[in-house]
Amino acid sequence: MSGSEDNVLPATIESEAELIDFMTRPSGALIALAETLPDRIVVLGAGGKMGPTMCIRLARAARTAGRALEIVAVSRFSDPKAQASLEAHGITIHRADLLDADAYNALPDADLVYYLVGQKFGTTSAPHRTWSANTIVPTYTCQRYGRPGSGPCTRIVALSTGNVYGMTTPSSGGSVESDPLHPVGEYAASAVGRERVFEHFDAAGHVDALMIRLNYAIDLRYGVLVDIAQRLLANAPIDLSTGYFNCIWQGEANDVILRCATLGKNPDGSSIALNVTGDQVYSVRNTAAAIGDALGRSVRFEGAEQPTALLSNASRMTYAFGAPEVPIDRMIEWTAAWLQQGGTVWSKPTHFESRDGRY
Ligand SMILES: NC(=O)c1ccc[n+]([C@@H]2O[C@H](COP(=O)([O-])OP(=O)(O)OC[C@H]3O[C@@H](n4cnc5c(N)ncnc54)[C@H](OP(=O)(O)O)[C@@H]3O)[C@@H](O)[C@H]2O)c1
Repeated sequence: MSGSEDNVLPATIESEAELIDFMTRPSGALIALAETLPDRIVVLGAGGKMGPTMCIRLARAARTAGRALEIVAVSRFSDPKAQASLEAHGITIHRADLLDADAYNALPDADLVYYLVGQKFGTTSAPHRTWSANTIVPTYTCQRYGRPGSGPCTRIVALSTGNVYGMTTPSSGGSVESDPLHPVGEYAASAVGRERVFEHFDAAGHVDALMIRLNYAIDLRYGVLVDIAQRLLANAPIDLSTGYFNCIWQGEANDVILRCATLGKNPDGSSIALNVTGDQVYSVRNTAAAIGDALGRSVRFEGAEQPTALLSNASRMTYAFGAPEVPIDRMIEWTAAWLQQGGTVWSKPTHFESRDGRY
């Protein structure tokens, strides 16, 4: 991936400062891109699991490129640590509840918007919250940043999810972007709704939208590997029914997403969707065994692999940006060491094993 992690992977990651430093080290390609980006960039939903490291990576790319970019991070900032880490990197904080239509009047103009707002967990108990976050906020965003008929549109790089596809077999290599969408459950259905809202405003010429269908970013503080490792540390069995997954180091995912600022359209002029994930399908059984070895824990399994899982094909991404360079073996070693040394873990399980679409 064009040296997105500078081809130098640390043997260990021993503190949150080291983790953030490594995870926000921009690629040469991102630094080159930063020279050409508009002066102000708005990141909506910046206060969650990915936003802080994404914004910091962009700020570091701009600094290295000698560009005085203004990065405006917009969120409610329910997590004050997210705000503090962004401020420490000179990123402008704009606190807003994006479900409040009036909040948009105070948002700064921008030619480039990264859109990370989303709601997944809690859907089963309060589906209306998920639908409003995933369809009303995109609508307000496109209304605020849309420029019908007046010159170039605002580029919106919008996070979606691999959940918009149905499950598929590992031998298929995963769903490709042109596959029909078969969302399972209300969260996935609302994520299709989010894409359709952006597509609507794109097709109407109001915005220039691009959808990122991400499957499982790996951080050491959350993610599929942390989920599996925590079960092993609790001597709990590993459920094999969802037997396969895709994942990508969060730093590399962020680098690709940021570089989507200039990715073009489909040949027919419609907005592009891009799967962002690793270029391999991993087996839960083998991954759990490797994590068990790294932790010195025995592994118990329950159930059996079902023929299908939520899998995306990363060919389009690797064609555009190169293959990811952080191997899963290294992510496993880092994760095991991180948990053994008592590193910070957010209580945000992925529920990757869910097969019924209920979150
Ligand atoms: N992480 C992954 O592996 C993964 C995988 C697939 C898809 N995605 C998608 O990628 C996007 C970013 O991922 P993430 O892991 O960073 O998600 P996340 O942790 O859920 O972050 C999204 C953030 O958006 C903010 N937000 C939600 N509603 C808002 C509102 N009404 N007003 C203002 N801010 C609001 C929240 O922060 P505040 O509380 O500060 O407002 C929330 O933390 C999400 O859409 C997610 O669904 C992520």
